[in-house]
Amino acid sequence: TVAATLPYANEGPLIVAHRGASGNAPENTMAAFELAARLGADYIEFDVQLSKDGELVVIHDRKVDRTTAYKGFVRDYTLQELQAMDAGSFYDKDYAEETIHSFDEVMNRFAGRLGILIEIKDPELYPGIEEKLAEKLRRYEGMANGRGLKANEGIMVQSFDFESMRHMHDLLPGVPVAVLVHKDQHPLSDKKLDDLASYVTYINYNQKLLDEQMVWSIHGRNMKVMAWTIKKGRDMKRMKRLRVDGVIGNYVGLG
Ligand code: G3P
Ligand code: CA
Repeated sequence: TVAATLPYANEGPLIVAHRGASGNAPENTMAAFELAARLGADYIEFDVQLSKDGELVVIHDRKVDRTTAYKGFVRDYTLQELQAMDAGSFYDKDYAEETIHSFDEVMNRFAGRLGILIEIKDPELYPGIEEKLAEKLRRYEGMANGRGLKANEGIMVQSFDFESMRHMHDLLPGVPVAVLVHKDQHPLSDKKLDDLASYVTYINYNQKLLDEQMVWSIHGRNMKVMAWTIKKGRDMKRMKRLRVDGVIGNYVGLG
């Protein structure tokens, strides 16, 4: 596994704000990320895809339909077009100023302030997205940007696509990677877990599927485990009992 320097919480699991504090602000916007920072999250999580002109952009769905007033695939719009879209009104009209952002805009504002968990969304749709992201992250690694960020401290990359994360690890071994596990991959076999232990730092599991046995199997191989998506206090309690290393949730401060 990877030797990582990450900001571990002193007590309890790392608190990761899913798409920012998306329970209380429009997902994947500056408002949601700022709120997460203000509420004391350890990390923000957000999703990246590629625009028509090949730029990394921060949005969850393949299409812009749900979170903007436009229709169609993210990959059919340029960065400039995406940056002009209101991505806040779908949540509440008070957030009409919020827009879709480039990866750089989010990183320039938050890297070094709190941890960053980047999800590569649907990498099979975007050949070369791992190389693009690796190139960007190499730049952050070099810059120690005056906010105490060094050697990618506090930056992690995750995906549901295991091979994409293996590739990311090969490109940038100093940046911890995680695989997301949902019902189709569950339960992970011993063979699969052994293979994952050769390149991942975290296994990020659908919380509904996670049990004591799986947490032991992951910890026993020197990997860590996070649970998603936590929306209720009682799920948070169960995850703490299971001694997970991180929770990815829509509300910061669930107890
Ligand atoms: O971080 C876990 C979670 O983000 C994965 O699901 O669909 O919200 O990206 P999704
Ligand atoms: Ca995500």
